[in-house]
Amino acid sequence: MLKSEPNGGMGTMENSELFELAKKSMDKAYVPYSHFHVGAAILTMSGKYYSGCNVENAAYPEGTCAEAGAIAAMVRGGDTQIKDIYIMGKGDMLVTPCGGCRQKIREFATEQTRIHVCSPTQVQKTLTMDELLPLSFGPENLAK
Ligand code: THU
Repeated sequence: MLKSEPNGGMGTMENSELFELAKKSMDKAYVPYSHFHVGAAILTMSGKYYSGCNVENAAYPEGTCAEAGAIAAMVRGGDTQIKDIYIMGKGDMLVTPCGGCRQKIREFATEQTRIHVCSPTQVQKTLTMDELLPLSFGPENLAK
């Protein structure tokens, strides 16, 4: 990432738009229980954008993660291949996707997919699917 880039050093314009979309989504999180806001923004291989935030509820385990919301919107929009997914949270530590979300992303990942873990100010880490979920089980494993 170069500081001289016109879009704030985020790499491509698409990347900075996704970063901003993840931030806007994070701000919409419904988190009265954990108070932990998470946003996710997806760019598909077909060039479309989708986003989601975590949505909690009083029956705690029934809450949904930001990634799940973004993926549901993507599928509803007719897309099934993730090029980039930006995941943003505010803690001191990296907001890496939870185990369940790793599997959800895996379903729609390709060799090109990149998972970007972000704070509200920067991309902290960019990972491949294999780095995030090694030896994963995916659709190909069901092939007979
Ligand atoms: N959360 C996400 O939205 N994505 C993750 O990958 C990690 C956890 C949410 C779930 C819950 O609303 C809050 O963060 C605290 O666990």
